Amino acid sequence: MRSVIDILDLSVSEIDELIATACNMIESPEKYSELCRGKKLATLFFEPSTRTRLSFEAAMLELGGSVIGFSDAKSSSAAKGETVADTARVVNCYADIIAMRHPLEGAPLVASLNASIPVINAGDGGHAHPTQTLADLLTIYREKGRLNDLTIGFCGDLKYGRPVHSLISALSRYTGIKIVLISPPELALPEYTKKEVIIRNDIPFEETSSLEKALPELDILYMTRVQGERFEDQAEYERLKGSYILDLEKMSLAKKDMSVLHPLPRVDEITCDIDSDPRACYFKQVANGKIMRKALIAKLLSAENVHCGNERSAEFLPKGVCCSNPRCISSVERGLTQLAVIGENGAKRCAYCEAEINF
Ligand code: NCD
Repeated sequence: MRSVIDILDLSVSEIDELIATACNMIESPEKYSELCRGKKLATLFFEPSTRTRLSFEAAMLELGGSVIGFSDAKSSSAAKGETVADTARVVNCYADIIAMRHPLEGAPLVASLNASIPVINAGDGGHAHPTQTLADLLTIYREKGRLNDLTIGFCGDLKYGRPVHSLISALSRYTGIKIVLISPPELALPEYTKKEVIIRNDIPFEETSSLEKALPELDILYMTRVQGERFEDQAEYERLKGSYILDLEKMSLAKKDMSVLHPLPRVDEITCDIDSDPRACYFKQVANGKIMRKALIAKLLSAENVHCGNERSAEFLPKGVCCSNPRCISSVERGLTQLAVIGENGAKRCAYCEAEINF
């Protein structure tokens, strides 16, 4: 049974196929309205969400299926100390597919290792958010007609912004991509994404702290919110939160057909007077998110997926060696096997959160 924990769990041709299905779903929604009749989606949301949870639920309802779940960890047995592994084993008895959001990095992977139904990562800590990436890719495709030959600027919180990490991974498989990383040094992209994804794939990139300087060359600007909830030091968040504000004056520096994306929610990174600019695509992204989740649920519940295994390979870490990332599920929940994936250069990364492991 196949789960989607990381965007790279889907091949480029599967993403093409999901985009094609999504376009058909937009054209003829009635053809899909009974596809998941009798199936249940469980939405297990241990962290706040508006778009992701409601779009998963709307997607399943539009496919004729039904939805169970919770939207707050406090109303689940997690509040009594239940582990993610046990919660997954339990929900496995009630539902046909799980969408899970969790503040701990790697939690959806743990769920997938303990369930025999597909698990979709709906955002794990500051790590990954593959279905937001599907929404982003459909938006880029519908706006630009292509997913290659694009210069894309990522602006804001590149350290904790999980949609940024997943979209950069996804784009690393297309040709003619150039990436411009726009952030203060404190919110720079994690080293492993820079080294293992951008540099390893020979993607041309620039780093700057100036949005104004970067704007004129961009085809896409991906704005992000500074992720206050992930800071250990709230004073640091207060200092950094207003780092970038996209306003009409800055938009005048951009190409006439640059697309502005933002996974939302926005706080103050984009002034509201930009909403009516035809280049503002963030509300289109919301609509595209529902359609891509619909296409993904349909794919994962299809007969072919039932016979498909996950292709992850990981190895056990020696006794006593563990992940040092305090936001990783393997350093927080008891009893989890410490697993590592080995990079091409022999570097070991935690299989749950991708943090480097040195021993
Ligand atoms: C994003 C998330 O949860 O990571 N939101 C979303 O899913 N649309 C971005 C964010 O919270 O800033």
